[in-house]
Amino acid sequence: MLKLTNGHGSMFPLLLSCLCFLNSFGFVVCGFTSSFIRTQWPAKDIPLDNEVFAVPKGYNAPQQVHITQGDYDGKAVIISWITFEEPGSNKVLYSSVEHQYGHTAEAKVLNYTYFNYKSGYIHHCLVDGLEYNAKYYYKIGLGDITREFWFQTPPKVDPDSSYKFGIIGNYYPSSTFNSLSTLDHHMKSGGQAVLYVGDLSYADRYQNNDGTRWDSWGRFVERSVAFQAWIWSAGNHEIEYRPDLGEPTPFKAYLHRYATPYMASKSSSPMWYAIRRASAHIIVLSSYSPFVKYTPSGYGYVANSSEWIGRDTLADCHHAFSDYNSNEAHYMEGESMRAVFEKWFVRQRVDLVFAGHVHAYERSYLVSNVNYNITNGDSFPVPNNLENSFISPHISEYPVYITVGDGGNQEGLAGRFLSPQPEYSAFREASYGHSTLELKNRTHAFYQWNRNDDGVLVQQTLLCF
Ligand SMILES: [Fe+2]
Repeated sequence: MLKLTNGHGSMFPLLLSCLCFLNSFGFVVCGFTSSFIRTQWPAKDIPLDNEVFAVPKGYNAPQQVHITQGDYDGKAVIISWITFEEPGSNKVLYSSVEHQYGHTAEAKVLNYTYFNYKSGYIHHCLVDGLEYNAKYYYKIGLGDITREFWFQTPPKVDPDSSYKFGIIGNYYPSSTFNSLSTLDHHMKSGGQAVLYVGDLSYADRYQNNDGTRWDSWGRFVERSVAFQAWIWSAGNHEIEYRPDLGEPTPFKAYLHRYATPYMASKSSSPMWYAIRRASAHIIVLSSYSPFVKYTPSGYGYVANSSEWIGRDTLADCHHAFSDYNSNEAHYMEGESMRAVFEKWFVRQRVDLVFAGHVHAYERSYLVSNVNYNITNGDSFPVPNNLENSFISPHISEYPVYITVGDGGNQEGLAGRFLSPQPEYSAFREASYGHSTLELKNRTHAFYQWNRNDDGVLVQQTLLCF
């Protein structure tokens, strides 16, 4: 799960205003279920010979190039790529001046097998010591077969650093034309990085978890992720637990292919980590790992690590907290995680919690159900300004929950919402789409969701913290 939150301290005024704004609609005005009927593109695969999956020309050419943040504060990137014929060069040449590569960093190279699939040579290279708010060029490959890319580092970590994130989930482009539309829209949105809320290649939907689908997915998204950091969180399609195939290790392909800077936030698991980027503190949680108290990478780590608390924060996870997703699909799957983490979210004043998994869009009001326990019968989320016995009644303490598993999955949309619409649900629509979160300064941000197929800006929300 990926969560976006504002913690205590300098970002608190921003969070507070946001809550005030949203609460003015609160539970007085009913939520809205969109009646929009989208034009159905078939949820079928793009043929693998389509140009979007093209293998770069040349012997052992680097492919599936992708970058993510490489440290806690945004002054490093991890550059990853794959070669197939041989390991090739493990060096990244980089510079802030185009074509004048004065710096070198070395990658670690690994590979894996999964049933009858053998991966290429996966390179992960940490490039650190970068300047904030700077453009860097990098080159990978060997001899005449080299490829060049660039990326922009974020501004310094500061409550007033503006930054625009794209939020994408369940992006199945090995894949469908819906996903192609999502990526095109994101690349036109001005998003500077992506919060990816899980479910990547959907290789597990193919016979014997066809590993070549991981490769085609990597080539498909390269056009964006080679140039800007995507912040990864794992979904259920990454588990790939198949003891019947002799593959009992969960997340095998995902963990080999997608590096995260987890050690920078003192985590023991690459699927649980925290980073700061511009004015955001981002926490990535894993919906499919042990997370209750006393588990090494779960609640104990999240609740006690200084990297996770007392800072300005956003968070990601894969499946929605059940109370805050009113779609029939996957309803209640996230209840155990809500029971463990919601109190912590409220105490740490998390602002926004993003989840994927459900193939539709939904946004909640500012709500909390932390007062509920199995003996008091209060199993009902309350809006932000109601007093309860568990926390102080300050209006700024509850998060907004946003489900964005609408990137364009293979299975099709989740079109059946529970009726009537729960009071906590502000807006819901079963369309493919993409979101952006634009952090302006310590007091204001814009969140917007666009459906893909008509390009209409459906909902824009001013967040005042
Ligand atoms: Fe999922």
